Amino acid sequence: NRSKRARLNVIVIKKKYISGSGSSSSSSSSGAHNTVIMTPIFMPVGTKSCIKGLLSEEVENLCKYIILSNTYHLSNIYDMDTFKKNKDINNFIKFPNSVLTDSGGFQMVSLSKRIKILEEGIVFNNIYDSYNIKKNIDYLMGRTTNHDMSIYDANPVIDSINSNVNFGTDTISTVNNASTTDKQYVSMGEDILLSPEISIRLQNYIGADIIMALDDVRSALEPDIKKIEDATYRTNRWLVRCIKSHQNKNNQTLFGIIQGGLNINLRNKSMDFIIRQKLNGYAVGGLCGGEKKKKFIEIIHHCSNEKVNKKYNYLPINKCRYIMGIGYIIDILLCSIFGYDMFDCVYPTRTARFNTALSFDGTIKLKQAQYKYDFTPIVKHCKCYVCMKYTRASIHMLISKKNPIVNILLTIHNIFFILHFCYLMRVSIFSNKIDYFVTTVLYNNFVIGV
Ligand code: GUN
Ligand code: ZN
Repeated sequence: NRSKRARLNVIVIKKKYISGSGSSSSSSSSGAHNTVIMTPIFMPVGTKSCIKGLLSEEVENLCKYIILSNTYHLSNIYDMDTFKKNKDINNFIKFPNSVLTDSGGFQMVSLSKRIKILEEGIVFNNIYDSYNIKKNIDYLMGRTTNHDMSIYDANPVIDSINSNVNFGTDTISTVNNASTTDKQYVSMGEDILLSPEISIRLQNYIGADIIMALDDVRSALEPDIKKIEDATYRTNRWLVRCIKSHQNKNNQTLFGIIQGGLNINLRNKSMDFIIRQKLNGYAVGGLCGGEKKKKFIEIIHHCSNEKVNKKYNYLPINKCRYIMGIGYIIDILLCSIFGYDMFDCVYPTRTARFNTALSFDGTIKLKQAQYKYDFTPIVKHCKCYVCMKYTRASIHMLISKKNPIVNILLTIHNIFFILHFCYLMRVSIFSNKIDYFVTTVLYNNFVIGV
């Protein structure tokens, strides 16, 4: 009966400006109009504003609703003026549909940057990796950046110093309460602070339609419950600061992030606080970090459960619900039947670059010899460009010849496939057939596919 919770949702994104003649063909229709995102939907990831290997036109044709990009990476490669001069990221990349930006903290943690999490925000110091983000933060704070990057460019030794030497000292004089993360923090020169205010300022400049609050993400496998508890309450406090500093409320909507690890009690407290902020959407973070599937299901089930959770607020049915970091077909299906709307993960695009295609019967590793004479498309009846023009055999051959076009072809198929999968889910929810759909997918994956 849990599948009764699956629901269709519509997110209306207010068009921020009237498209001019300089924009791409499909966005150049006259007059501002709202865009509509049908959910459940997967958001392909364009970390640095492009999806690796794809032409702008391909991104536009494949991603009809929304893509995700990352504040950390964007700030580290572009100057904020780039977005300002182009109105927003959508216009800069000539993408007529919607964009969501993640707030940056998770990327810093997951990229193993040596960081320190303080009440003020996330402190990092690796100027070699993070030169441009530092420049942008200085710009936002009205400071001038003095670092001469040429010494870093010229000196590859700096790289190895960064990864080997622990300078170890806490150079932040303005902040006490220094609870370091488990990662070793290496101090090289001036510290850089990514605070909730700065993350929101950066996201205001970037101009995505949906922006995320800065959260204190801990590994789902963190054994110290006290650390998870501290991070949960800190995420709540940071949300209040994010809301206060958000300067573009008319054009960009801010989502809060529920943390709390694998602890139901902390998840309740997090939900209760964050939902009282009355935002348009709520994300569940801190999952997909190697936790057991049963635990993962327990958390997502709990957070969207209206009946069990009476004492605290649960995720409201009429707001967007987003599970961060979800990309396996089975997980997307599971989360959708529990009533979630949005998902993102690098998995479909990254796995494409490792010669792996998605299908209804599980993944297909096209390098394997068994595909040498397999003249069928990757997925029978798939209407993507690749399945119309290539066979498993022809792609196998391209792989064996190390032709780089394979990465692009498989990226196109995988994005098309996962978005079509979401479409099929929506159709089956609409027609009250989601139970049959689930049975078919599970049968294909676990009986036929393996
Ligand atoms: N991406 C995957 N998980 C998370 C998370 O917990 N927080 C943020 N900000 N991004 C994520
Ligand atoms: Zn295909």
